[in-house]
Amino acid sequence: MRMTRYATLATLAAGLALGAGARAQDTVKIGLILPMTGPFASTGKQVEAAVRLYIARNGGTAAGKKIEVILKDDTGVQPETTKRLAQELIVQDKVAILAGFGLTPLARATAPVATEAKVPMIVMAAGTSIITNDSPFILRTSFTLAQSASVIAAWAAKSNIKKVFTIVSDFAPGIDGENSFKSGFAPSGGTIVGELRTPLQNPDFAPFLQRAKDAAPDAVFVFLPSGQGAAFMKQFAERGLAGAGIKLIGPGDVTDDDILNGMGQPAIGTITAHFYSAAHDSKENKAYVEAFEKANAGMRPNFMSVGGYDGMHLIYETLKKTGGKVDGMAFVDAAKGMTWTSPRGPVKIEPDTRDITQNIYIRKVENVGGKLYNVEFDKVEMVKDPGKK
Ligand code: DHB
Repeated sequence: MRMTRYATLATLAAGLALGAGARAQDTVKIGLILPMTGPFASTGKQVEAAVRLYIARNGGTAAGKKIEVILKDDTGVQPETTKRLAQELIVQDKVAILAGFGLTPLARATAPVATEAKVPMIVMAAGTSIITNDSPFILRTSFTLAQSASVIAAWAAKSNIKKVFTIVSDFAPGIDGENSFKSGFAPSGGTIVGELRTPLQNPDFAPFLQRAKDAAPDAVFVFLPSGQGAAFMKQFAERGLAGAGIKLIGPGDVTDDDILNGMGQPAIGTITAHFYSAAHDSKENKAYVEAFEKANAGMRPNFMSVGGYDGMHLIYETLKKTGGKVDGMAFVDAAKGMTWTSPRGPVKIEPDTRDITQNIYIRKVENVGGKLYNVEFDKVEMVKDPGKK
């Protein structure tokens, strides 16, 4: 064990020495690691499309440096694979920046690589609060479950929802979501009448939904990773929960724009809190959705895509501040405090946590001109991650 670890560090150090030469040149290489295949491929597909769109709309150079993206598919399920790909990208491909990270365990496994190599790591998708604590080189442009879940908890508490049954995917963001919801809802007088965790892979929701129905709550709070919402929604309707008057609430992952329109009638009325809706009413978003759909055969951008798009914006604007240099901590320092108007609305990278502060919108699934959208009807402005200690 000890030898292997030493060998890895030595290889990494050698690679770094070489990497310094490449970094002084005219290209900034970005190692983009995403689940392009496997159960979370929709996240990879959305983030990659947004990264490519950002480059298409803003040019292939930033601060005079050519931007080169090297995409690696980590298949989304094995943290060691993501970590190994990050090491290879640094040592062999000499990337100056790591980016992507579709799921929390993959981001967490890679954090020590960023720290050892002093390479900035842009988390564009994963959403557990703790991730930004894992390395001082991490910057996040996605969101945290605590942001969305705390806002839907406050909304539920003031919307005559008294009894809630929680169902979350059994991994870090699900547990963050469950805890944030409970800590926001219970002190306002709400009661949690049951809580269940579903397996991350290949979940069959039917037995969980039956137990939720038997508990007769006012609402089910659900968190599932992006891509799993359609199967859940179908079974929610089939099991008769909607018919029994049970509302469906949660962070917006369950009504993911990528697959929302295919969910049909069962999704209508679902109320979620989240940072992005393709229906967000702003000129920046209208232009984003139009350009994204045009470049991707009509695919609608979802919240994951916006994490990717803003991640590229952060890289471009930070390079402008550093004169095109990516010297580990100097790059991260230059990114701190950055603000801009994203397709999602105003955002800020908090200087002390390197995490993103953003509006969280409350939305209801509605049929708009024959298509399903998360229609925003309220918002909480500039929510900092409540999960930071
Ligand atoms: C994470 C993954 C998701 O697909 C999602 O919708 C939210 C969070 C995660 O692993 O952090």
